[in-house]
Amino acid sequence: MAKITAHLAKNKKILFAASEAHPLIKTGGLGDVAGALPAALHDLRQDVRLILPAYRDAMRDIGDLKVASLRMQDDPYPLRLLEGKLPGSGVPVWLVDSPLHFDRAGNPYLGADGRDWPDNADRYAIFARAVRAVALNQMGLAWQPDVVHCNDWQTGLVPALLSLAPTRPASVFTIHNLAYQGVVAATDYRRLGLPAEVWSVEGLEFYGQASYIKGGLAYADMLNTVSPTYAEEIRTPAFGCQLEGLLQRRTDRLVGILNGADYREWDPEHDRHLPHHYSAASLQGKAANKTALQREVGLPRAPEVPLIGLVGRLVEQKGVDLVLAILPALLQQPVQVVILGSGDPAFEKALTILAGHYPQHCQVKIGFDEGLAHRIEAGADLFLMPSRYEPCGLNQIYSLRYGTLPVVRRTGGLADTVTDWSEGLARATGFVFDAATPPALLEVVLRALQHYRDDPVGWRRVVGNAMARDYSWRRSAEAYLDLYQQAIARAGAGKP
Ligand code: ADP
Ligand code: GLC
Repeated sequence: MAKITAHLAKNKKILFAASEAHPLIKTGGLGDVAGALPAALHDLRQDVRLILPAYRDAMRDIGDLKVASLRMQDDPYPLRLLEGKLPGSGVPVWLVDSPLHFDRAGNPYLGADGRDWPDNADRYAIFARAVRAVALNQMGLAWQPDVVHCNDWQTGLVPALLSLAPTRPASVFTIHNLAYQGVVAATDYRRLGLPAEVWSVEGLEFYGQASYIKGGLAYADMLNTVSPTYAEEIRTPAFGCQLEGLLQRRTDRLVGILNGADYREWDPEHDRHLPHHYSAASLQGKAANKTALQREVGLPRAPEVPLIGLVGRLVEQKGVDLVLAILPALLQQPVQVVILGSGDPAFEKALTILAGHYPQHCQVKIGFDEGLAHRIEAGADLFLMPSRYEPCGLNQIYSLRYGTLPVVRRTGGLADTVTDWSEGLARATGFVFDAATPPALLEVVLRALQHYRDDPVGWRRVVGNAMARDYSWRRSAEAYLDLYQQAIARAGAGKP
């Protein structure tokens, strides 16, 4: 308690830079975090401001906007800064408006062909320049942060650019996913006029190219990732994506802070996407959501048949290949499966074709559908997340709150948040397996189905345990305040 009071007594000015934030723009968990963590910091009475690219979707959804600064209108890459509020919270938002780069339809990172936008190097260099200018109070906003909190490769250039300023705020860089690095051609780097001073093996250079994420990893005053286990894993070659050497060198700067869940959005007692609300004390609503989900996705109404859900990006990270491999055997069981996702076109196609053979048992919905994601969390009995790696993972945390027992691989944040049935009915919250192989996944799913069938009393108890787990953002936000304090102390002590 003393610690919390100390934080509240000394408010910090925090500039939170991200490439997506719910509800303005979201492709995955980063959007959830950047929508919720600033709000949690705001609730802790910190002076936090969010800065995002002015994507077309974000401009549409934010409502009232005013022009905050025209200071960079004469730059080689001109931009305006617009100001609004993050819907549902009091957090001020700045949108970096360069229409040529951000005013386009669709996904923030990918074109309609599913490939990276060809000008991503330009887009996130321009964004980083704008963040730097705000951080150094060069935009005429009469506000200078104590800390700039950057997230993932899209903001990686910011700590590198700031390191060149004679006086600067502290910087924190959060790794949400080390595998996405923003590696761009050296010619692009030069064309964009990015500084030669940070072009080195210790800096941005990565096998002859420029790695935006290295800007964060090498130059931020403090680093963190989104779970304690992933913070350990990324120091090893198996998970380090060729950056483990750098992370080992900066090991004293790297910590793990587990993400929270935004229970304003993800709680079956008041989730606005659900036809029926429920709680641990009264689970009838969950059964009603199951029936509604079966109807919505086109599965037969079958209250007794266990329903397995999966929501996520359909990419190798998420173990989609393992799911594909076990589905034919799994669908021999009395079971229903519903999958919502988008991503790798090969996975989308393979899942769709496979489901086509079992329409009574398996439905696959390709696309991004926020409401359906919530209804799958509520209507399913089990939630599948067999990730090969998982920095934190939010869907398993949501699943716990929805009483939908997660089946997860023991890696990253999944290992940190789910307790296997075998650890006893007093503690268990789901099912955990180890080997990233189809037999291991099939075995754990069959084990879960057996408990569902044979031990309804035990099942109810484990559902109760899961629903009682509390991953509120407040605790994580307090851990970030400590991290900011450490970054400020290190920044004051000289070079990163
Ligand atoms: P990641 O960030 O790696 O994609 P997380 O589990 O941290 O994984 O977060 C994923 C978030 O994105 C969750 O809020 C999840 O519900 C959402 N999501 C992923 N795919 C879809 C989809 N196809 N439709 C709706 N929501 C999705
Ligand atoms: C990344 C990770 C995911 C994490 C999310 C939010 O997208 O893949 O594990 O939960 O970021 O931090």
